[in-house]
Amino acid sequence: MRTLRKQLVGLALVAGMTGVMAQAGPDLAPMPEVKPGNAAMIELGKYFFFDNRISGDWGVSCATCHNPQKGWGDGQALSTGYPSMEYFRNAPTVINSAHQKRYLWDGRLDGSDAGTLVRDMITETHTMNMDSRLMQERLKQVPEYNALWAKWRKDDINGMRVYNVIGEFIKTIRTTNAPFDKFKQGDANALTAEQKQGYELFKGKAGCVACHNGPIGSDGNLHRTGVPEHPEVLKNPLRTITMLRHYSTSGMPNYMNARTDVGAYAITKDKRDMGKFRTAQLRDLKYTAPYMHNGVFATLDEVIDFYDKGAGAGSVLKPLNLSAPEKQALKSFLLSLSGDPVIVKDPGQPDMKVWTAYGKN
Ligand code: HEC
Ligand code: HEC
Repeated sequence: MRTLRKQLVGLALVAGMTGVMAQAGPDLAPMPEVKPGNAAMIELGKYFFFDNRISGDWGVSCATCHNPQKGWGDGQALSTGYPSMEYFRNAPTVINSAHQKRYLWDGRLDGSDAGTLVRDMITETHTMNMDSRLMQERLKQVPEYNALWAKWRKDDINGMRVYNVIGEFIKTIRTTNAPFDKFKQGDANALTAEQKQGYELFKGKAGCVACHNGPIGSDGNLHRTGVPEHPEVLKNPLRTITMLRHYSTSGMPNYMNARTDVGAYAITKDKRDMGKFRTAQLRDLKYTAPYMHNGVFATLDEVIDFYDKGAGAGSVLKPLNLSAPEKQALKSFLLSLSGDPVIVKDPGQPDMKVWTAYGKN
């Protein structure tokens, strides 16, 4: 009797589990609600984001490469990088940074730690080439910044905390009002018939949902899709140098011979990660062309054609054989994940005044 009961409970559990599994394949989700961040930090972070004093030679601010008018990227295939250099990858958008599981194209940083990402952007030679202590001293020369800081804390402006302050600001840059979110929240008319067809293709025949899922359309994992190299990286020695220098800093064996973007391999040194990149988010694509880690595709049509052919060399994906109307429906669906433009006005840079040893300004 007892064994039978156990077996019945067991069966019910198995039935329950398969039921759950059948329902819970990966899917896209609406943007989550978030708790408002610390207002004083966000206000300061906004100033710092637009202030080029936080780069080594005062040449660039975060907004130079992550420009609100250009979808919080720079609109170019490959980033220009710190003045006098040229970078080998695209400058991605900072929209939805609060919801990334990993940061950067090769996923090398943890998405729950925006402060460390900001520190890398500021101290990396390729982006802002700045020393934390020098940044701290420069910011301390600005009376308005000391006053804003005092609203938050009793101590002086501190380099390490500046990273978290900027991190707090970028976490406020989020997709809002996307038709897809309204649809998921119950407004059946928020998507057109064509977009609904595109959503079915996305989850079905086209198989995009296997990697592009969750609220921002990224599983946060590393995959090899075989995106073609951008020819400019090898043609332009300045870009080749930044690529090889990045590999060298990461301690990649035999880096001098690399002639392709090896992606996550440079970080993990595991051959299975060769050419793998973090799944890109699909939010706000309307504003963030060109696409992929090297901006090699100028339009979403090119991206869809790429997947339709079974993606690139070394990928596990198969050709999709989508018809022209199916491709159109998929594109139209992808655009429903974009919200209103997230525009933040540059607050301007307050002047510096020399800080004396006897009093603040
Ligand atoms: C000179 C151009 C440049 C500047 C200045 C710059 N960035 Fe970046 N940013 C990039 C590039 C290029 C990448 C991608 C690097 C990679 O993946 O190898 C990136 C990546 C990022 C990411 C990761 C996004 C993702 O999809 O994971 C965030 C967030 C970010 N930057 C924020 C900032 C902030 C905040 C600042 C200022 C403190 C800043 N950046 C300054 C070029 C720049
Ligand atoms: C095997 C996992 C996987 C599948 C399946 C997949 N993708 Fe991707 N997708 C990725 C990865 C990884 C990247 C980043 C690749 C890179 O930059 O080299 C990416 C990048 C993209 C981008 C570029 C976004 C940007 O901002 O640069 C778009 C758009 C995109 N995918 C759409 C799709 C569509 C549409 C489908 C279905 C037809 C699809 N993906 C199927 C993993 C996948």
